[in-house]
Amino acid sequence: MANVIVVGSQWGDEGKGKIVDWLSERADVIVRYQGGHNAGHTLVIDGVSYKLALLPSGLVRGKLSVIGNGVVVDPHHFVTEVEKLRAQGVEVTPEVLRIAENAPLILSLHRELDAIREDGSAGLKIGTTKRGIGPAYEDKVGRRAIRVIDLAEPESLRPKIERLLTHHNALRRGMGLAEISVDSIHNELTEVADKILPYVDQVWKILDDKRKAGARILFEGAQGALLDNDHGTYPFVTSSNTVAGQAAAGSGLGPTAIGYVLGITKAYTTRVGEGPFPCELDDAIGEHLSTVGREVGVNTGRSRRCGWFDAVLVKQTVRTSGITGIALTKLDVLDGLDEIKVCVAYELDGKRIDYLPASMDAQARVKPIYETLEGWKDTTAGARSWNELPAQAVKYVRYIEELIGTPVSMLSTSPERDDTILVTDPFQD
Ligand code: IMP
Repeated sequence: MANVIVVGSQWGDEGKGKIVDWLSERADVIVRYQGGHNAGHTLVIDGVSYKLALLPSGLVRGKLSVIGNGVVVDPHHFVTEVEKLRAQGVEVTPEVLRIAENAPLILSLHRELDAIREDGSAGLKIGTTKRGIGPAYEDKVGRRAIRVIDLAEPESLRPKIERLLTHHNALRRGMGLAEISVDSIHNELTEVADKILPYVDQVWKILDDKRKAGARILFEGAQGALLDNDHGTYPFVTSSNTVAGQAAAGSGLGPTAIGYVLGITKAYTTRVGEGPFPCELDDAIGEHLSTVGREVGVNTGRSRRCGWFDAVLVKQTVRTSGITGIALTKLDVLDGLDEIKVCVAYELDGKRIDYLPASMDAQARVKPIYETLEGWKDTTAGARSWNELPAQAVKYVRYIEELIGTPVSMLSTSPERDDTILVTDPFQD
């Protein structure tokens, strides 16, 4: 079956943009199924850089692009991102872009709440992107969200906003914040409704029709599996499910339609925001990874924390997302290091374990157990065949495959799309 899910197998920022773009050319439909504009996907095509946050990457290739019900949609951001892409010459019309009518909206009150929680001294600082993602998902599961389709029914929009504000104004009173009026939210939504409604559709139906017609569907995951609300480093996670299983629920196409799960995996580890990071390096090597890897957030400009490759975590992700094969990225960032360490297990209270425990306290206590490999002096950057790689680099890749129990199906050796070594085409597997 020729449908592929792309997921980040670490904490996001694994280099999904390039791989998704590469696969988009082979796909007929590209689907976002979770998260929102907290994502940051960079595509470089013919030297031009496109930065996407909410819109599926397939748009840049002119492919049918779909925002599924599992995504939280900030309508104002949607309009801005569409305009930005158009200014770069990309055609964005309802022929090529659809939004699920049952997707929940992110409102200004969500953004405000996200920022207040992050900046305040009360509560736990997560290091969110402050885009309102968490508060919007809370309203979704709380059954009081305003959804995209509500914009098409202005007569019943007001009572829905009133119901939502009953909750939010109670919260705001408790926090000492000014209450929000129904009018302000109503205005905020009606001023943008006409710009988003032409794109609204029954996404589950389009996808099923496309599947039956033999189309190749690519599911574009955002963030990474370790930020999953159930399986990640809770509570230092995002508010959606980021594991591959969410592609089905977040799009309305059942799980039997999925053939291949590609886990995008960086040759070392990075993380943005707070939370446990057993292999984090606070030394010259960490600095090397950060500088050479240009580890700065696409959308937020925040520096990413860096560390050695953690095979325990990736192996866990391979299992929780049912990963078929990985695309290994940024191997060249390790070029020139004398030796390279790989975390093969953890020590927890004197015991060796081969998994990340669920307890927040235990996650903070685990210590990495490393194996050390010899580094390589020659460059791997731009290699397009295994023969062009130094022997030690091949050894490193093979060692990772062995540790995580899944093959490398693609090896990306630079941001350029053709600098890729293909072992298996996920669409042909
Ligand atoms: P939120 O998704 O904005 O609520 O942020 C929750 C956590 O997920 C924070 O640690 C963020 O830094 C992280 N996060 C959210 N989106 C991304 C992403 O696209 N890449 C990497 N980390 C992300």
